Amino acid sequence: MYERNDPDKEGMEINMTKQELSALLREMSLEEKVNQMMQVAGGFFTGDLVAMGPIRDKGITEEAISQAGSVIGVYGAEKTRRIQQDYMEKHPHKIPLLFMLDVINGFKTIFPIPLAQGAAFEPELAEKSARAAAKEAAVSGLHVTFAPMCDLVRDARWGRVMESTGEDPYLNSLYAEAMVKGFQGKDLKEKYHIAACVKHFAGYGAPTAGRDYNTVELSQHTLKEFYLPAYKAGIDAGAAMVMTSFHTINGIPATGNRWLMRDILRKELGFDGVLISDWGAVEELICHGYCANRREAAARSVKAGVDIDMMSGVYAEQLCEMVRENVVSETLIDEAACRILELKNRLGLFENPYKDADESKEKEVILCWEHRELAREYARKSFVLLKNEGVLPLAKGSRTVYIGPYVDNRNMIGAWSFTGDTDCVATIREAVEERGEEAVFCQGCPMLGPDMHLEGFTEKTEEEISREECERMMEEAVQQAKRAGKVVLAIGEHRLQSGEATSSAYIQVPQIQMELFRRICEVNDQVAVVLFAGRPLDIREIAEKAKAVLLVWMPGTEGAGAIADILYGDFCPTGKLPMSFPYCVGQVPVHYNEYATGRPYREKEDRGRFHSGYLDIPNAPLYPFGYGLSYTRFEISPVELDRNSMRRDEKITASVTVKNAGQRTGTETLQLYIHDIAASVVRPVKELKDFCKITLRPGEERKVSFSITEDKLCFLTENDRWESEPGEFEVFIGSDSTTENRAVFTLTED
Ligand code: GLC
Repeated sequence: MYERNDPDKEGMEINMTKQELSALLREMSLEEKVNQMMQVAGGFFTGDLVAMGPIRDKGITEEAISQAGSVIGVYGAEKTRRIQQDYMEKHPHKIPLLFMLDVINGFKTIFPIPLAQGAAFEPELAEKSARAAAKEAAVSGLHVTFAPMCDLVRDARWGRVMESTGEDPYLNSLYAEAMVKGFQGKDLKEKYHIAACVKHFAGYGAPTAGRDYNTVELSQHTLKEFYLPAYKAGIDAGAAMVMTSFHTINGIPATGNRWLMRDILRKELGFDGVLISDWGAVEELICHGYCANRREAAARSVKAGVDIDMMSGVYAEQLCEMVRENVVSETLIDEAACRILELKNRLGLFENPYKDADESKEKEVILCWEHRELAREYARKSFVLLKNEGVLPLAKGSRTVYIGPYVDNRNMIGAWSFTGDTDCVATIREAVEERGEEAVFCQGCPMLGPDMHLEGFTEKTEEEISREECERMMEEAVQQAKRAGKVVLAIGEHRLQSGEATSSAYIQVPQIQMELFRRICEVNDQVAVVLFAGRPLDIREIAEKAKAVLLVWMPGTEGAGAIADILYGDFCPTGKLPMSFPYCVGQVPVHYNEYATGRPYREKEDRGRFHSGYLDIPNAPLYPFGYGLSYTRFEISPVELDRNSMRRDEKITASVTVKNAGQRTGTETLQLYIHDIAASVVRPVKELKDFCKITLRPGEERKVSFSITEDKLCFLTENDRWESEPGEFEVFIGSDSTTENRAVFTLTED
């Protein structure tokens, strides 16, 4: 019998050695090893689910569950400790259970959705918020989170853009690294850290037609140049796990795709951690038409290197028999089981299977003041001021009318926050009243019209308000708006309109709210819209008629307080768009880092037909990547270079002087873009390569310098290698991706 150190012994060596793990593996039966590769829903351990009927037919039997290697969806210190204790008592080799969950933008203290986090252009905050989320999750008994989502996104029709940090590989890479470091810390066995899981590998953010789970058609070059960098950044930061994605790529479903998982993920990116399937994705290989049956699905997934089968039961049902029939090599089982044991070992679970689960700590840490303050700061910094013609900030003590379904709505925590408690979330009304401001509030209309019903993971919308009642609400709001100096209209998407399986062909604010918006704008010309959204929306009409538009995304637990902080000018808006807002849905996918084409269309220059443009809309998005206003304004001098050429081992310093030409202290995010004018493969017209946030008082000016080194010039060349090529480059420094503030330099042959 394999005897392991007694976890109660003081001062013993944390972590088992490789030899001890190998010895343990050798002692395990084939069934035990295969059961480690199965992940089941928490309901089987809490009694909410029973392994019978169709579930049992899927191979999820009581016996398999009793030895499942991991569980998804169970949390709470008392509950997880009890389950772990029962589990360990039954386990033949006392191998602890792994508890996993989607802790995407917070556990109980909910931070802004990841797309909003990207708008802060401050990865440091992502690391801090991930650390806070890890602490709350860890004391609640969790060991692994299915985050960060590192999918690059360009298509606002796809509702999961809310989980990404946007359309830029460089920005996404910085956030992926920061989030993994925040979740995992330096060592997983240290207190209050949890393992991170980079997902969804790979290219899930580019589904054809923006339809979730749909086929992804990416050239290998585009996949490697734009989509892989953020996954790589998360893996290089030490992510313990990677999750497969639902779609096909190169005609083969990711979960069974040996090229993607063995050649790219394991070999090229050097990932040697645990690879978990997405929910049911192993079995879905049959629906894809890639496998004829569950037996084949098991074989192709395990040969692709998928270590854990999330909730399909295929592994538990098929693998033992296939090994005994020599259809699947037991080496593959050993490989997978060993990686799972190594993850448990890295977490220190063999020494302490309860890790940080602690009821008293839960009370102390969850929703603590420090986390809430961080959530409020992050929300403020994620807001993007899209328009402001003298309406904001509101004068303190001014009488403002607040209208809209978000005035009294607490649910602004985003689609992946089912562990968040909305009863801890203040409403805009409460936040404004807490400031002692004089204001009037009315809802004006329901969030959704009678034509819309939404379903989340654990809830669905039931709001049914009669047309008469709706008319009464609107009329009351119109009357209030008539008498108001300024109106703040808090409108936008329902939180369940973004997230998984929420693809939308019309990316607009619900029509019932647009009706309210039109009627309010008819009677008041000082309307500031506070816009809630999980994705870029088509907001042409709002941008045209409102005097101010503040995009607040889904701001999280402290969203209302942060909104009041910005509306009343305690803080200046600083956010910048991490994803382009399209002119209309017909323009999607639209992104700043596009290729020029052979017939580039320049809005003001080209009048002829034969250019890459539209007959009916502009090429430019309504609001571009990197765009965001302040309550002050900044002047940026022309770009100066300390030299005009460099060799690979040298650098060029590019500088500008920034002046705060307004009346308020504000923060500008200066962005540096590079354009490689001619190369062995076409290069984007601009690529974000650096940025810095600078805060200036009114009248203050400061010189800001960036270093251009060879790494900023490297790209995937025709040789399929990341390298630079000599030639001419443009460097741009400005306040968003449309800047034409440029200089030219040359990279010379060495
Ligand atoms: C979902 C999502 C994935 C999530 C998993 C577990 O289908 O695609 O992002 O981590 O299931 O909830």
